[in-house]
Amino acid sequence: MMNVIDEKNNISLSEFIRYTDKDILELTKINENCSIEKYKVEKLEYVKIYNLFLYPEDLKKFLCKFPCEDRFLSLSETGSELTSSAPGFQQTFDKHYFRKISEFISKVMQENNLSQHYWAVPSWEYYSNCMYSGMKSYQKNNLPHVDPFDYACNMYLSNIENTGTTFFTFIGDEHEYYDVKELHRRSKKDHNLFLKQVFENSMDKDFVDWKTFDGNSRYRKYHIIDAEYNSASIYKGCYWHSIRFDSQIKNQIRYSLVGSVKK
Ligand SMILES: [Fe+2]
Repeated sequence: MMNVIDEKNNISLSEFIRYTDKDILELTKINENCSIEKYKVEKLEYVKIYNLFLYPEDLKKFLCKFPCEDRFLSLSETGSELTSSAPGFQQTFDKHYFRKISEFISKVMQENNLSQHYWAVPSWEYYSNCMYSGMKSYQKNNLPHVDPFDYACNMYLSNIENTGTTFFTFIGDEHEYYDVKELHRRSKKDHNLFLKQVFENSMDKDFVDWKTFDGNSRYRKYHIIDAEYNSASIYKGCYWHSIRFDSQIKNQIRYSLVGSVKK
């Protein structure tokens, strides 16, 4: 690649990491021999894709290079406000790079009746999730949450034992609920109880070692979706869930690309 050095402006083209569109499409290529399975556990329906990418290692190396803000570093070192309570750190990406992934995942969702609706390419947003040894939790963000979008597709790019997504019901005073929409519909009392808990958690300002949550008197664990290397799991964001990751095991990084869609 030709370099241009502009000494007056103290900048050179070699400082930029540049790719062709063809390179990016190649990096995000879906493996034609991937396998797709649909599951139903209690009320949770989800789809898994095994051996998703043709070049997962090359894709991982490409994604790692994107700069990002680590909000926990910001908070612990400068005391700045948190804009999200997601654990670990996230990078955000241009959805255009992943349009072939979006097309494929939308087709899988529709063919497997996970969604009646075909989610067009512009509906998808992409970010990464990076969890690491020794990371902390804050505002009890190891507890179950629901997503601010309709569907999530987690694509795992590192090989970690005993990791995945744990699913929970919320146990109110009146009923037990699988998803937050059901809670909203069925009981004002339980909905208020849930909101009170979310508010109390947001007031907890301690940094404590991140621990995988396995349930308590308000949350019943009923399923774990394992996060095998180069697999994807697709589910509705309204079911309570949390990340399984043992931050006490040294030298581990759980890295995933996440696609999300919202109405
Ligand atoms: Fe989530």
